[in-house]
Amino acid sequence: MTNRHLSIDYIEYASLEEMEPADRELVLAALEAKKGSYSPYSKFQVGAALRLEDGMIIKGANQENIAYPSGLCAERTAMFYAGANYPEKAFDTLAVIASDHGVICESPATPCGACRQVMAEYQKKFKRPLKIILAGSKRIYKFSKTEDLLPFIFDSLKV
Ligand code: THU
Repeated sequence: MTNRHLSIDYIEYASLEEMEPADRELVLAALEAKKGSYSPYSKFQVGAALRLEDGMIIKGANQENIAYPSGLCAERTAMFYAGANYPEKAFDTLAVIASDHGVICESPATPCGACRQVMAEYQKKFKRPLKIILAGSKRIYKFSKTEDLLPFIFDSLKV
């Protein structure tokens, strides 16, 4: 038997000002994207902005439904839009920001498991890491690849 330990590295910023301009721009795009949230049930508004390899920014926001499982998170709204409309353009960085009842969350909203699995799929498709920025009003995290959010990713079907 062997006890193993897993650790991850990520950057924490205390404010947008500490970030590189391109990352700051992406967080501001996620903030803008959040305006498209349709969240009458949870009142939890999420915005996502995805930078593609050529710099294009795709926005997404959570879309809810009275039949709860029929809704979709902001992250997957953005990723699926990009995947469907620009299938050849690799994903570079995804930024996410959320508000609860109109107030920006102090700590970053962290993506659900399904969104993490979808991030992993696009990393696999494009054979390059997807960077992830999770922004809150007091703290901002940056991860350099999906594995840092989803260790032991399901990957047994070798495509
Ligand atoms: N939600 C997202 O859009 N992204 C996340 O990272 C977490 C949760 C949405 C789903 C639902 O519309 C609302 O937030 C509350 O869970």
